[in-house]
Parts: sequence; C-alpha cells; structure tokens
Amino acid sequence: MLLSPHANRLVSSRVAPARPVSSLLEDARHGLLQRPRTLPPKYFYDDRGSRLFEAICQTPEYYPSRTEAALLSAHADSIIEQAAPAHLLELGSGSSRKTRHLLDACDRLGRPCGYWPFDVSAGMMLDAGAALVADYAWLHVHALIGDYTGGLSGLPLRQAGRRLIVFLGGTLGNFEPADARAMLREIATLMRGDDGLLVGLDRVKDRARLEAAYDDADGMTAAFNGNVLSVLNRELGAGFPVDTYRHRAVFDENKARIEMRLVAGHDHRVQLPALDTHIDMQAGEEILTEVSYKFTPASIEALLREAGLTLTRHYEADGGDYSLLLAKRA
Ligand code: SAH
Ligand code: AVI
Repeated sequence: MLLSPHANRLVSSRVAPARPVSSLLEDARHGLLQRPRTLPPKYFYDDRGSRLFEAICQTPEYYPSRTEAALLSAHADSIIEQAAPAHLLELGSGSSRKTRHLLDACDRLGRPCGYWPFDVSAGMMLDAGAALVADYAWLHVHALIGDYTGGLSGLPLRQAGRRLIVFLGGTLGNFEPADARAMLREIATLMRGDDGLLVGLDRVKDRARLEAAYDDADGMTAAFNGNVLSVLNRELGAGFPVDTYRHRAVFDENKARIEMRLVAGHDHRVQLPALDTHIDMQAGEEILTEVSYKFTPASIEALLREAGLTLTRHYEADGGDYSLLLAKRA
C-alpha cells in the first residue's frame, strides 16, 4: 500500500462517549414505535448522506452555507487575530471546506495551529483531513471520530495553548433548545481562560426563502432526507419502501424552526426485524426527521448568556440572513 507523503501529519482516534448515547436500534424503537414518529438527524450522515449534504450546499436555494463561507472569507483574519488559537477544535466538521478560510488566515498571519475535527462521519472527515495536510504544509490534523451528543469531556485535548472551538453550518440549530443550551454549556466547560468559540447560526427570515432552502428544485434535500430510511433498511434490515416517501419541509413560525418530514405515499406495513416488530404507516403519515432552528439577535444573545458565554463579536450577513458569533466564557 502506498502511504501519502503527508500521512504522518494526519492521525485519527475514536472518541468514546463520556456518557451513554443511544444506539440506532434504541433510537428507532423510541422514535418509530410511537406517534409522532421521529428520528434523530445524526443518522443522515453515512457516506452517501454526507455527499448529499455537500450537494445541498451547492444548490442555489441553500443560502446558509455560502453565506457563512462569505462571512468567514471576509472576517477570518480578524477572527484568528482575536482568538489567536494554538488549536482549532471543530464540531461536526464534515468536509471542512469552510474551515479552510480560517486555515488560510492562520497561513497569512504566520500563526500555524493544530486542527481537531470531530465528526460522526469518519469517511468524509478523513478524506477532508488528507486533503488538508496535502494543502497546508504546516498543518497537523487529529481527526476525532465520534458522537458529540456523548459529551465533550472525553476528548483527548491535553495540549497546552489557546483553543478556538468552531461549530459551523448552523448545526447547533439541529438541537432542541434545551439540548442546544446544554451543548453550549459543555463547550463553555471545555473552554479555559482566553479560549474562544466561533459558532454559525441561521436567522429567521421569510417563509418562502426558508422553505425553498430545505426543498431545492434539484431534489438534493429530498434525497438527503430519504437517505435516512435507506440507513435504517441497511443497518436494521428494515423494509421501508424509500421511493414511496415524499419529502416535506415546513417552517413553524411559532417555534422558529424548519421541520423536515418524510410523508408516506400510501398505506403500508414496514417490517422492523431488529426490533422484532412492524409498524403500519398510513398514506400521508409523517416521520419528523430533522428540526433546524432559526435565530434572532435576541435569541442568540439569550442562548449564549444562558450557557455562560459572552459575545465578543457578531459578524452578520447583509440583511441579517446569517450570524457568525465569536464568544468567550463570561
Ligand atoms: N460543518 C460543516 C458540516 C455541517 S453538516 C458545514 O458547515 O458545512 C453536519 C455535520 O455534523 C456532518 O458532518 C455530520 O456528520 C456531523 N454530525 C451530525 N451529528 C453528529 C453527532 N451527533 N456527532 C458528531 N458529528 C455529527
Ligand atoms: C447541518 N444542518 C445545519 C443542516 C441544516 O440546515 O439544518 C442540515 C440540512 N438539512 C437539510 N438541509 C440541510
């Protein structure tokens, strides 16, 4: 086997959860056997799902990714100067595409730092890590494979030096509000002294733009959504007729969140052999597969405050489409 000449700058390790995390089997039992039927969003991201998410980011309708990229490109130098990180720890790093703006700033400012991506999708993260060490001659990548809902206290972050914890894409919006607060509190607990947090959050805006962003004309989001049923079929031997489900994205103004749902096209029985049972889906019956909360300046401020964090900079896209926030421990 031919090893990449940069392989010694890319290492990976599995992060054992610091507290128990439910298995796919348990989540399927808990989420599918009762109404409303739900599934947690982390199961979207097998190799195919991770590629589909990247495809979503290229669609004209899905503004969050390109808006956040533009903010990072414009403000990366300022962010790196203020945060002065020796280590970048990124939660849910995916392809690390937008992180390159931060690494470019480190390069320009002559401030090399280590990169610690943490993601449940190992294939995508390791491919991204290999590309990064090839492109940045000074970069050491330590890829952390694991589930951040299992907590952050088990991360092997023993090195000295200031950290910038990065949570991009609006992914914190995929947590229920209490879970988002708990996650931010855990991040705050991980932060020492002058460590920083950089978090991207999508903003409340008009329904038509929001719903279009989650229902693109090329059907990338629909394929991404349906992929979770393929994951259940493959991993649990479930019998979902994937192609008969319709994708639906609805903005709930009261909750300020997009809900992604899968809608059964006709009455059918789904065998769930791993659970030793089946479910009867009726035509039109839905499975809630993802929530994606949208924020206002006030709700952002409150979220950070409740987690013991203080906003140090708020980088805002024109028209308030998206927020990139730099924060410290209060
Ligand atoms: N930050 C990237 C990717 C966002 S997609 C961007 O902004 O484009 C969400 C990412 O979070 C995916 O890479 C997915 O694999 C990861 N993810 C989702 N749930 C996770 C979990 N519970 N633990 C760790 N990573 C998770
Ligand atoms: C990863 N996360 C922030 C995306 C979002 O916008 O909630 C996932 C996604 N779902 C559909 N399109 C994108």
